[in-house]
Amino acid sequence: MTMEPLRPILFHPHIPSIEYIEQTLLPDIYEVRTARTIPDLAEAIKRLGIRGAPALGCAGGCGVALSALITKADSLPEFLDQVGSDADLLRKTRPTAVNLFYGIDHVLTAIMSSQTIEEAKSRAVDAAEEVIDADRRTCHAIGKTGLEVIPDGARILTHCNAGALACAEWGTALGVIRSAHEAGKNISVYACETRPLLQGARLTTWELLRDGIDVTLITDSMAAVLMRKGAIDVVIVGADRIVSDAVFNKIGTYMHAVCAQTHTIPFYVAAPLSTFDEESCEDMVIIEERDPQEVRKVRGCVTGPDNVPVWNPAFDATPVHLISGIITEYGIFTLPRDIETIKQLKKGKDMQ
Ligand code: MRU
Repeated sequence: MTMEPLRPILFHPHIPSIEYIEQTLLPDIYEVRTARTIPDLAEAIKRLGIRGAPALGCAGGCGVALSALITKADSLPEFLDQVGSDADLLRKTRPTAVNLFYGIDHVLTAIMSSQTIEEAKSRAVDAAEEVIDADRRTCHAIGKTGLEVIPDGARILTHCNAGALACAEWGTALGVIRSAHEAGKNISVYACETRPLLQGARLTTWELLRDGIDVTLITDSMAAVLMRKGAIDVVIVGADRIVSDAVFNKIGTYMHAVCAQTHTIPFYVAAPLSTFDEESCEDMVIIEERDPQEVRKVRGCVTGPDNVPVWNPAFDATPVHLISGIITEYGIFTLPRDIETIKQLKKGKDMQ
């Protein structure tokens, strides 16, 4: 039986509202919620109700369009001012995934030269829909590009959730896995649980089971042993931001990259062009630090004393020399070799 495509974020300009799958409740509860205001949306992003870099780009873009549709401003300067301050509120939700800023700026740029409020509203809706449609197309293209790195019979390790839930549809790392499965390759996946918020255990396994893809859940600390046993053929993960010298992704990614290199296992990152921040380098990126309570308790269960000091970075940086290739909608690139090509491709996209 073919499942309906999983679409975690939908924009309804006529209501107006943003509908999203509440990801903090999965896998036990599948609940679709609605954001009708910008503070509602910002709150959903902060608590990871909506999460994953490309999905954050969609939320940012749709959020700006939602702001444009609901603002009560009656002059164009007042309208632009209100939408601008809503965009700032969304920008402050999470600092690391660059797609969030890309989505927000794409819609803001589209409305800037409008002559009337009505024109600005209509442009905002079109631009937000473009962000979502582009992400759907892009993820399917990434999936196709990635087929060449997944041999038939591959045992694949992944970390966190870079699936449909983290995008508008299909996924990046899981997009490659889905495309390989769809192409008839006999693959199996080891999903790392991804402490502390368990995106791998809760979301990746849920998505793969839903699609009938062979998946085994492991804790993060089991990955090295599997690699040493020769049980992993390829590692593939997503990304929140790719700079000239490093890839930022969920905390734990670096550890898998180091282990993969030690065991000469190819380590791939799958991400759209919108995840590149090619003018920056590792030192320029802010890594989000989250609430210590997320480590002292896991889904309500105490895992450490209430007063123990905690360090809780949401992401880490993997230096590019540990990465075999970055699978994009335009092909597979390696850094630093292909940095100029990436810059040219992004410039070309800006002109469109
Ligand atoms: O904190 P999260 O759940 O938003 O982190 C998500 C990740 O790290 C993903 O791997 C990344 O955003 C890529 S999603 C296609």
